[in-house]
Amino acid sequence: MDNTVLKAIRERRSIRRYFPGQIKEEELKAVLEAGTWAPTGKGTQDPVIIAVQDPEVCAVLRRLNAEVWGKPGIDPFYGAPTIILVFSKADNPNCVKDGSLVIGNILLAAHSIGLGACWINRCKEMFESEEGRQLAPRLGIPEGYEGVGCVSLGYIEHAAPAPRPRKADYYKIV
Ligand SMILES: Cc1cc2nc3c(=O)[nH]c(=O)nc-3n(C[C@H](O)[C@H](O)[C@H](O)COP(=O)(O)O)c2cc1C
Repeated sequence: MDNTVLKAIRERRSIRRYFPGQIKEEELKAVLEAGTWAPTGKGTQDPVIIAVQDPEVCAVLRRLNAEVWGKPGIDPFYGAPTIILVFSKADNPNCVKDGSLVIGNILLAAHSIGLGACWINRCKEMFESEEGRQLAPRLGIPEGYEGVGCVSLGYIEHAAPAPRPRKADYYKIV
């Protein structure tokens, strides 16, 4: 079987080279809206999605992420002009699951409209640092929320290499 959704799932790749130009607002909104349609445990809709486009705030996020990674000076977001942060309620046992599905939708939606995106780790650690804690209210991150992941987003400057084939025993039908 095949259709456009299955094709998009197969063809989405992590993009790690972006043009510096900002994406259109309608593109950003389409991607964020797709995130909001992810399922959540018990339908809580707990996750919050924060898109950052202010170059100064993006620069702080790039630095913070690199610092918590132990690689100061590099840009873990590959120069992407938009950085999306996904948080979810820390005391919800589905915190990471809910947030991860939001990110999955965001990655797939970005691909489906021709944008490049990549999950970037260390969101939790960024906002557990002293500087991250101080930045959180400025970004509208609610109290008691935990970073699940970040996404770099922008126009594709260089496509990703072909994916590795799927491992032979990835699924079983029993
Ligand atoms: C939980 C998770 C964390 C990831 N963290 C990073 C990251 O910090 N930096 C990065 O460049 N890619 C990151 N990735 C992207 C993976 O490396 C990528 O999905 C994987 O290599 C498969 O490639 P594909 O997405 O093109 O299929 C992450 C992916 C996931 C699911």
